[in-house]
Amino acid sequence: MTQHDAVEVIIAKRDGGELSDSQIDWVIDAYTKGVVADEQMSSLAMAILLNGMNRREIARWTDAMIASGDRMDFSGLSRPTADKHSTGGVGDKVTLPLAPLVAACGVAVPQLSGRGLGHTGGTLDKLESVPGWRAALTNTEMFGQLESVGAVICAAGDQLAPADKLLYALRDVTGTVEAIPLIASSIMSKKIAEGTGALVLDVKVGTGAFMKDVPRARELAETMVALGKDAGVHTVALLTDMSTPLGLTAGNAVEVAESVEVLAGGGPADVVELTLALAREMLAGAGRDDVDPADKLADGSAMDAWKAMIRAQDGDPDAPLPVARESHVVTAPSTGVLTRLDAMAVGLAAWRLGAGRARKEDPVQAGAGVVWHARPGDRVTEGEPLFTLLSDDEARFDRALASLEGGYDVAPAGTAYEPGPLVIDRIG
Ligand code: URA
Repeated sequence: MTQHDAVEVIIAKRDGGELSDSQIDWVIDAYTKGVVADEQMSSLAMAILLNGMNRREIARWTDAMIASGDRMDFSGLSRPTADKHSTGGVGDKVTLPLAPLVAACGVAVPQLSGRGLGHTGGTLDKLESVPGWRAALTNTEMFGQLESVGAVICAAGDQLAPADKLLYALRDVTGTVEAIPLIASSIMSKKIAEGTGALVLDVKVGTGAFMKDVPRARELAETMVALGKDAGVHTVALLTDMSTPLGLTAGNAVEVAESVEVLAGGGPADVVELTLALAREMLAGAGRDDVDPADKLADGSAMDAWKAMIRAQDGDPDAPLPVARESHVVTAPSTGVLTRLDAMAVGLAAWRLGAGRARKEDPVQAGAGVVWHARPGDRVTEGEPLFTLLSDDEARFDRALASLEGGYDVAPAGTAYEPGPLVIDRIG
C-alpha cells in the first residue's frame, strides 16, 4: 500500500480537494491500525462534513472500511437472504416483527445489529429485555440458526468493518455524525460486509431522525442505494416519516410487547403498515414477491418464527417481560384532538427515563420507556392519561417531563387533522 501523510490528506480535504483512491485506502487502514491518531481522523471527518465527498470517494471509502475486516458469505444457505436497515427512529421496533415475518415467507434474514446511542433505541437493547436472550453468536451458530429458523438478530462481531466501529465512536463525540458521505459509508460498509443478497433501507425523515428534511434524506438514500448496487446487493430505500414516533411505545420491553402484538395479528396500524411495506420490499429483492406477508401475520406462522428465533438464542418468548419499578402518568391538558406528537421529544424522554444510554458502556433499563395513549388525529379528554412514563428510578421523571414539554399539541374538538404519508418515497 502506498504510504501517505495524515496531515497531507487532511489538508487536501480541508482545501476542498478530492482524495485519491490511494489516500483513502491508506488513511482507513492506518487509522484502523492506530497509525493515524484520533485527533487527525476527527479533523479529517470534520473536513469531509464541511466539504463533502464525490461518489467515487464515497465508494472507495466504503470499500476501504469493508476491507478493514471480514466479509460474511451466506451463498451456501438453502434460501435467499434479505436484510433491512433503519437509519434510526423513535419507537422503531419494526426489525423485531419484520425478521421473523420475512423468515416465515421463506427468505433468510441475517440481521447484525448494534446497540442504541442517544435518543434512538437499539434493537439488541430491546431484545435483551427478553429473559435469557443473548446477542452474541458465533458464526457457526448464526449459520445454523439461519438454516433452521430463517432469522437471526445478533451483535455484529468485532471483525465486521472494524474501521467503522472506531470512526463511528469518534464521530459521535466530535460533532461529525451528520455528514452524508460518512453516514452512507458507515451503514453500507457493514451491510455489504454482512453479505446479504438484498437490502432494504428505511431512511427516516423528520424531527426524530438524523435527516430532518426530505431533500437530505433523499440524497442519503440515493447515495446508499448506489453503493449497494455497485457492490452487487439488490438495494432499495424507503423514505419514511419520523416526525411522529412509531406505534404507541418507546423503550425496550414495552417495544418488545408491542412487536409481539403485531406478530399476533394486532398492534398499532402504523407499525403494521411499515412492517408489511418493508417485508414486501425484502421479499421482492430476494425474488419471493409471490408470497404475501400479511397472510403470514394472519396465520400465526410469523409468530411461530419469532418464538423459534428467541428460543434459538436462549430466550424464553413466553416469560413475562420486565416491568419498571416506577410509573408516572401525564394527563391531557384539555379535551380535543391530538394534532402533533414530536418524535424527538418522546425519544429524549425515553432516553432520560433510562431506556437509552449516554455513553456506550452505560447499562440500559429493560422496563424504562414512554407509552403514549393517543396518536395524532385521536380524540383526547382533559384529565385522562396521555402518556405513561416508566423508569426504575423516580428521580428521572422530572427531566423526562421537561423533554415532553412543548412536544405535543391538543387542538379544540372538531379541528381537522390531515395525516401525512408514512412511506414518503421509494428509491431503487
Ligand atoms: N448508523 C450507522 O451505522 N452509521 C452512521 O453513521 C449513522 C447511523
